[in-house]
Amino acid sequence: MTPPAAALGEEAGWHTTRLRLNGAPHLVRAPVDETLVRTLRQRLGVTSVRETCGLGVCGTCTVLFDGRAASSCLALTAQLQDVEVTTCEGLRGPDGEPGPVQRAFIERGAFQCGFCIPAMTVAVHAAIHDRGCRGVDEVARQLSGNLCRCGSYPQVLEAVGDVLAAGGAPSDRGGAGVE
Ligand code: FES
Ligand code: FES
Repeated sequence: MTPPAAALGEEAGWHTTRLRLNGAPHLVRAPVDETLVRTLRQRLGVTSVRETCGLGVCGTCTVLFDGRAASSCLALTAQLQDVEVTTCEGLRGPDGEPGPVQRAFIERGAFQCGFCIPAMTVAVHAAIHDRGCRGVDEVARQLSGNLCRCGSYPQVLEAVGDVLAAGGAPSDRGGAGVE
């Protein structure tokens, strides 16, 4: 059992946050003004989450907070006590194989450089599971905040169509994680 953060003796300007990342509990100590994208990348080694604009505009830092898509560049880690954070790694199947959304992206070749794709898969997952989107156009509207400089949108939407045709993404875990 993890001790309460208050019992850890905080140094001024730092905070210890208890969160779950892809299903695994973590206690992470970070400056109070550190954004989650930086904590994920620099302290927890999750480099699939990318910081590009740092302004909530491009979507490359998208993660799930308790199953809802959010920009991790706009969230302070210190404010996320007891939140379940899911990155694309948490969308994998139980044996670590690609989950349905990831598999559809692979099968459709829905990437070029790949930089935006981890966040794009998270956003697709949230559109289907959290927002309940059941049409490609609906999902596309939810993806309007996820920019792809390579222009992989047609293939991304083909992959979305495949996931929806298969009945959504039932074995994606969306918050439970597999780590
Ligand atoms: S880096 Fe977060 S939205 Fe661009
Ligand atoms: S695949 Fe290159 S930015 Fe999207």
